[in-house]
Amino acid sequence: MPVKNRFAELLPEITAWRRDFHEHPELLYDVHRTAGKVADLLREFGCDEVTEGVGRTGVVGVIRGKTDSKGRVIGLRADMDALPINEQTGVEYASKTPGKMHACGHDGHTAMLLGAAKYLAETRNFDGTAVVIFQPAEEGGGGGDAMVKDGLIERWKIDEVYGMHNMPGVPTGTFAIKPGAMMAAADQFDITVTGKGGHAAKPHDCIDTTLTAAQIIVALQSIVSRNIDPLQNAVISVCVVSTDSTAHNVIPHVVKLKGTARSLDPGVRDQLEEGIIRVATNIAAAMGAIAEVQYDRGYPVTMNDDQATEWAAEVARQIAGDVNMDMQPMMGGEDFSYMLNERQGAYIFVGNGDTAMVHHPAYNFNDDAIPAGSSWYAGMIESRLPAA
Ligand code: NI
Repeated sequence: MPVKNRFAELLPEITAWRRDFHEHPELLYDVHRTAGKVADLLREFGCDEVTEGVGRTGVVGVIRGKTDSKGRVIGLRADMDALPINEQTGVEYASKTPGKMHACGHDGHTAMLLGAAKYLAETRNFDGTAVVIFQPAEEGGGGGDAMVKDGLIERWKIDEVYGMHNMPGVPTGTFAIKPGAMMAAADQFDITVTGKGGHAAKPHDCIDTTLTAAQIIVALQSIVSRNIDPLQNAVISVCVVSTDSTAHNVIPHVVKLKGTARSLDPGVRDQLEEGIIRVATNIAAAMGAIAEVQYDRGYPVTMNDDQATEWAAEVARQIAGDVNMDMQPMMGGEDFSYMLNERQGAYIFVGNGDTAMVHHPAYNFNDDAIPAGSSWYAGMIESRLPAA
């Protein structure tokens, strides 16, 4: 089974959907136009059920196979939202909305899954039920979590769930996947250092918050290098430093730090949270200041099930001839992790070729990846629900 021939025929149509989504990017949960078009197309394809408004603006389509001897249900997921970036691709179908852009290829994911849905509704050559899931707010809004909390898994009785993302640098039309941790847990922290502001010429009358904050920033880097097992993976980055002073000669009363903490293992994640709170509060205390730490857990680790990874890789192998299973996990976050926490499944990368990296203003989804991507989505249904 190379690329399914039907997707070569459907390529102009799928490409047109993709470019239409690209021209009209929408952010987070505000994907009303995109979700509306997805729902209209699913109905036009003859899906057996189309439900809108799942997890606020998510869309779920149901396609029943020719038979259903075992009552098995497989979910396929795509994301629909764009990013707050000014597009610099120069393509004729570039974003019509300044400050919004499909810079992560979710336009491509949505179009590829629509293509697979059209094919599956035409052929229905499987035994069971395919559920196509279009989620909002992947880029920081937790739309995957919102759909799970809205009953996605139980309402549609999903047994396994699969997701796909394009990846620049991976050859077009090829795939990369690994068992275990694929993407990181992405948490954030806010540290407020309070001391005693005053005249910069009289530091002895102050409690210096900038010096305290500087010591905290340096000491936080000892958590990854000294507390975490060297064979594990973690990142702590302090990304924002701000004070209530704008003068050269005033020691500020308050300094605020903001940053991100990433990990691939639940135990390491606990160590990062504990460590950041311990280091910040105690360094501040040593300096006579007070540090308050707000640690917020974001997306969990995207954890591929071993068996499901092999099933997903086998379908990819049949399409592309080979699959890269030696890839390293990435420290970015992905909220498909909420669905993988509920059910057996896997998340795979499809190559976007030699393009700018995702989240870059010059990035563009590569339409040449569509036949492989749509074939993989459809192939997961036909291989996991073989026709009776
Ligand atoms: Ni993305």
